[in-house]
Amino acid sequence: MSKQLFFPILSLALFFICTKTSAQIAPAPPVKVDNITSILEKGGQFTSFIRLLKATQVENQLNNQLSIPNPNDGLTIFAPSDNAFSSLKPGTLNSLSDQEKLQLVQFHILPTLMSTAQFQTATNPLRTQAGDVKSGNFPLNVTAVGNQVNITTGVVNATVANSVYSDRRIAVYQVDQVLLPLQIFGPTPAPAPAPAAPEKDVPVATPKAAAGDANASGAMSLMKLCSNMGFVSFGFAVFGAVFWSL
Ligand SMILES: *[C@@H]1O[C@H](CO)[C@@H](O)[C@H](O)[C@H]1NC(C)=O
Ligand SMILES: *[C@@H]1O[C@H](CO)[C@@H](O)[C@H](O)[C@H]1NC(C)=O
Ligand SMILES: *[C@@H]1O[C@H](CO)[C@@H](O)[C@H](O)[C@H]1NC(C)=O
Ligand SMILES: *[C@@H]1O[C@H](CO)[C@@H](O)[C@H](O)[C@H]1NC(C)=O
Ligand SMILES: *[C@@H]1O[C@H](CO)[C@@H](O)[C@H](O)[C@H]1NC(C)=O
Repeated sequence: MSKQLFFPILSLALFFICTKTSAQIAPAPPVKVDNITSILEKGGQFTSFIRLLKATQVENQLNNQLSIPNPNDGLTIFAPSDNAFSSLKPGTLNSLSDQEKLQLVQFHILPTLMSTAQFQTATNPLRTQAGDVKSGNFPLNVTAVGNQVNITTGVVNATVANSVYSDRRIAVYQVDQVLLPLQIFGPTPAPAPAPAAPEKDVPVATPKAAAGDANASGAMSLMKLCSNMGFVSFGFAVFGAVFWSL
């Protein structure tokens, strides 16, 4: 192939691959059902939740449970969308200890499989993996009418947006809010009056975007990458054509 053609053709090929990738609404690839990450990746908008599942290693625990073909109880997962995470106050996740992050994630998991219909007859508060509701620590209440399911934690009211996945072992629902447990985010009891202490230099908390708050979805970054590449490769095409024909 002549040099005059090589650059433009390569660039055009790249451009078309990218155009195709970002424009096509491809059917989702088959889900490997023993893997919570691939179930959520199929949903396309759970980047932050997946990151939290990994960081807290709850991912491994869920995958272990998913490897049991016929569990007694199954699992229900409320997966907050990336939008839900980006609407948290900045730094919300960063302010949590590792233990609290783990509890936050476990609060989104019920140790039983629940269908939409079962929400209507559920007895509140529901037990989550975060802890014992009897102590009142992690109440999660569900109200359902028909297909509409609302959740309240005492801190946030969320709505179940849709079912992401379900089989006999696991049901995954998308929720529009991060379910903030009362135990961690509730009003703190008034602290005992502190003894007058000499003023100290208290580091000012700078609002940082928490790792889990990132909102760029894979699709968005791919489109961005592709639009850049498309632009660049067009540039190359023009440049190559002009340069090599001189
Ligand atoms: C689960 O799927 C993700 C990608 O979808 C992959 O990176 C990961 O290795 C898989 N984990 C297991 C335990 O198969
Ligand atoms: C769910 O909450 C919405 C408001 O956010 C309300 O309009 C609706 O009636 C509630 N549905 C149920 C079943 O509680
Ligand atoms: C949850 O439901 C229980 C039982 O109905 C109730 O006592 C509790 O106040 C409810 N909590 C919230 C946050 O709605
Ligand atoms: C949640 O809903 C309840 C009753 O529907 C309401 O009293 C409460 O203020 C709501 N809480 C938030 C944080 O919106
Ligand atoms: C992503 O979050 C940043 C700040 O964290 C915000 O400025 C930006 O508008 C958000 N983008 C989207 C698409 O939500």
